[in-house]
Amino acid sequence: MTLRLGVNIDHVATIRNARGGMHPCPVRAAKLAESAGADGITAHLREDRRHISDADIVRLVEELRLPLNLEMAATPEMLQIALRNKPHAACIVPEKRTEVTTEGGLDVAGQQSTLEQYVAELQAADIRVSLFIDPDRAQLEAAKALGAVVVELHTGKYCETRGTAQAFEVERLQQAALYAAELGLECHAGHGLNYETVMPIAAIPSLTELNIGHFLIGEAIFLGLEASIIEMKRLMLAARE
Ligand code: PXP
Repeated sequence: MTLRLGVNIDHVATIRNARGGMHPCPVRAAKLAESAGADGITAHLREDRRHISDADIVRLVEELRLPLNLEMAATPEMLQIALRNKPHAACIVPEKRTEVTTEGGLDVAGQQSTLEQYVAELQAADIRVSLFIDPDRAQLEAAKALGAVVVELHTGKYCETRGTAQAFEVERLQQAALYAAELGLECHAGHGLNYETVMPIAAIPSLTELNIGHFLIGEAIFLGLEASIIEMKRLMLAARE
């Protein structure tokens, strides 16, 4: 199975917004990511618009050849935006106004009936829906039960821990990816990955996509964006061999 790299460009917009102007442009970054070998672009339109804007989403859909994965909270506003723009995929994430980044996975099991209708409306518009969840059997079963075809496993905890705690988190992710395959769910992963943490995750055979942002944009300061992406892709493919 091949492993795709989705490059999250949110933090190009964070830098742009720091001065309120047009530079650096996330659409330009997405095009560069494509020429560096990215397989998809991910952008999170947050309720407070702290990085990616509505206008960015319109341009990304219109101008990109790569598939766009729109990360969004399950709100009525985001549903309308997704239906209007029709990205290739939508990844439903939990969102809290005060968090610095997406802190944990979506509680699919705890809000099954609300999410079921939400996912059905997106899928009826031909948008491939994934649910961003912790590597947990009950969440996988709930995702399957409500008709999702893709899940993305939250790797944040794995990236934050060290030693035996980290080994335990790798094991959890491996088991969850295996169980997702048994349930017939396509399985992605992401959050907090860098050159060190990516390899054990990329080595999990049933994963088909990793979504990586903050580290790549940060590393671009030192290496340039294309070089930072090329190196990430090299490590991912090396882990698969
Ligand atoms: N996947 C999902 C669902 C996310 O919410 C994020 C962060 O926006 C990422 C992947 C990428 O995480 P990071 O920017 O830490 O690489």
